[in-house]
Amino acid sequence: MVKKFSKDFWWGAATSGPQSEGRFNKKHANVFDYWYEIEPEDFYDQVGPDVTSNFYNSFKEDIALMKEIGLNSVRTSIQWTRLMDDFETGTVDPDGVRFYNDVIDAFLEAGIRPVINLHHFDLPAELYHKYGGWESKEVVDYYVLFAKKCFELFGDRVKDWFTHNEPIVVVQAQYLFEFHYPKVVDGKKAVQVSYNLNLASAKAIQAFREMGLQNNGGRIGIILNLTPTYAASDSQDDLQAAKIAELFNNRMFLDTAVHGEFPSELVDLLTEDGVIWESTPEELAIIKENTIDVLGVNFYHPSRIKKPDIAPNSVGDWMPNRYYDSYEMPGRRMNLDRGWEIYPKALYDIAINIRDNYENIPWFVSENGMGVSREERFLNTEGVIEDDYRIDFIHEHLDWLHQGIEEGSNCFGYHLWTPIDCWSWANAYKNRYGFISTNIHTQIKTIKKSGHWFKTVAENNSLPERNKK
Ligand code: BG6
Repeated sequence: MVKKFSKDFWWGAATSGPQSEGRFNKKHANVFDYWYEIEPEDFYDQVGPDVTSNFYNSFKEDIALMKEIGLNSVRTSIQWTRLMDDFETGTVDPDGVRFYNDVIDAFLEAGIRPVINLHHFDLPAELYHKYGGWESKEVVDYYVLFAKKCFELFGDRVKDWFTHNEPIVVVQAQYLFEFHYPKVVDGKKAVQVSYNLNLASAKAIQAFREMGLQNNGGRIGIILNLTPTYAASDSQDDLQAAKIAELFNNRMFLDTAVHGEFPSELVDLLTEDGVIWESTPEELAIIKENTIDVLGVNFYHPSRIKKPDIAPNSVGDWMPNRYYDSYEMPGRRMNLDRGWEIYPKALYDIAINIRDNYENIPWFVSENGMGVSREERFLNTEGVIEDDYRIDFIHEHLDWLHQGIEEGSNCFGYHLWTPIDCWSWANAYKNRYGFISTNIHTQIKTIKKSGHWFKTVAENNSLPERNKK
């Protein structure tokens, strides 16, 4: 049966400023720019953020390609380090303002809805060195200053705003598991950073509403990577481990964003372990009162969890993962290039979870996608990458999403990561995700087979018939 989607469904794709623009004319360095300056060997093939996909220079042509493949909405982010002249006094850089005005106008002229995110891992390096970055509540207030500038400058045309992309990744990558600079390993700091990121989001939402952007058709939300947790077995120990993993990895941001409160089981556990964050009643009231209008969900892979092999309190320094271990399910389907399990049904489980436990809030799939290495392998004689694996991947996920929507989940869109192959932090250009390929030596961009396929899906607002896997 052909699967129809609602008439205003968002068919789009997502990228971010630091991953697509390049550093051209950018006054300040973010933590990734800085990390590349000091440790280029940490980046795949030593490719850094200087050029990325050249969007700063080629945004008009790039947006024309996005239009050509039928996208009606695209997310990117405004770089804090490009827009601001001075982070502490709140002055702006005129070229940054000019650039984002031009980009937003170009999207609107192309009939593409610009969806704007404010923070995509790209903390200004200066604010890390001077204040400890997200460890500091002063930085929370500097972030709000930046957010207000964005609302003031672009809120007349941008209607869909997001405060953070995947804030839990900042916690995991920078404060627990050392995959992003500054590679701190400190569970207690990680807990404070989690709290501060939640507070920053609520304070930006408060500013948005005080400035009245909602009266102009504006909505604001947060983008979370929800990795649904599946226990390895029905044993009490595995179920308990999965519950704690879910609290830490998903609910710490999701409950707070939607219900305005941290889950009480999480607060109890952190209090008992002596690592609870510093908070004030005033801050908790801001979090309570400033919940999101709309949710973006990034979904790539599930999280399979088993009980840890050793007793939690026999481990030294406090880390959340003393309570759980990841579990490699025998027979799982894998994207071997990226090392991630493929499990499309999780998108249905997410849809039902949001429907039943999160007020059936309006939400969209803000990222989903398949990172594949050396895609030149799949070039045909016309120079088009035949990425049938990506078409299958998207089809299967949309199939399950459609079922969730049919059963009442309030999902209004699907964005692939990413419109045009872009730079991905320490993985640089290793895995490609785009509908459109980028040759990083020539910057020539070519639509892949999946881009042509998606155009038909978007134009027909429906998924062609085939059997669900
Ligand atoms: C998402 C991020 O988690 O995954 C993106 O929001 C990132 O910024 C994407 O590029 C793909 O990540 P990776 O690690 O496979 O290159």
